[in-house]
Amino acid sequence: MARALIIFGSTTGNTENTAERIGGILNDKGLEVTVQNVSDVTPGNEAEFDLVLYGCSTWGEDEIELQDDFIDYYEEMEKAPLRNKKIGVFGCGDSAYPCFCGAVDAIEEKVRNIGGSLVIEGLKIDGDPDESEEDIDAWATAVATA
Ligand SMILES: Cc1cc2nc3c(=O)[nH]c(=O)nc-3n(C[C@H](O)[C@H](O)[C@H](O)COP(=O)(O)O)c2cc1C
Repeated sequence: MARALIIFGSTTGNTENTAERIGGILNDKGLEVTVQNVSDVTPGNEAEFDLVLYGCSTWGEDEIELQDDFIDYYEEMEKAPLRNKKIGVFGCGDSAYPCFCGAVDAIEEKVRNIGGSLVIEGLKIDGDPDESEEDIDAWATAVATA
């Protein structure tokens, strides 16, 4: 059975809830899923997984700021064994800000730089994720078969 790791950073719970929802769908599709708060992960934990999904909200005003808990992991991501793994990135944000879901872009760029394989375009959720359930479910379903 393929194994998926979902690592999220979330301040108000939106990206966390999205991570759990995506995890539920991957589980329904037959993957063995582990969902972890980025605060509890150090680069290296990814080794035993086939698929790694990153969820991170965006903060800041005029420039991209990753969700607080994600920053330490992001800065050490070069140590993560991502080469040849399937990777996807998602995050919650608000299109009222100039860098809408900029954390998704920043993490995708980092993954590319360290040789990970992005298997799907990043999912950017605008506002309350409860109002984007269809998009989230479609993205997770596409990830499951990527
Ligand atoms: C002070 C502040 C700054 C924010 N900056 C951004 C931003 O630059 N880009 C963006 O897309 N969303 C921004 N947001 C919106 C949050 O990312 C959004 O509320 C998100 O759902 C939070 O997700 P979380 O609960 O998983 O942390 C900002 C929100 C606040 C309160």
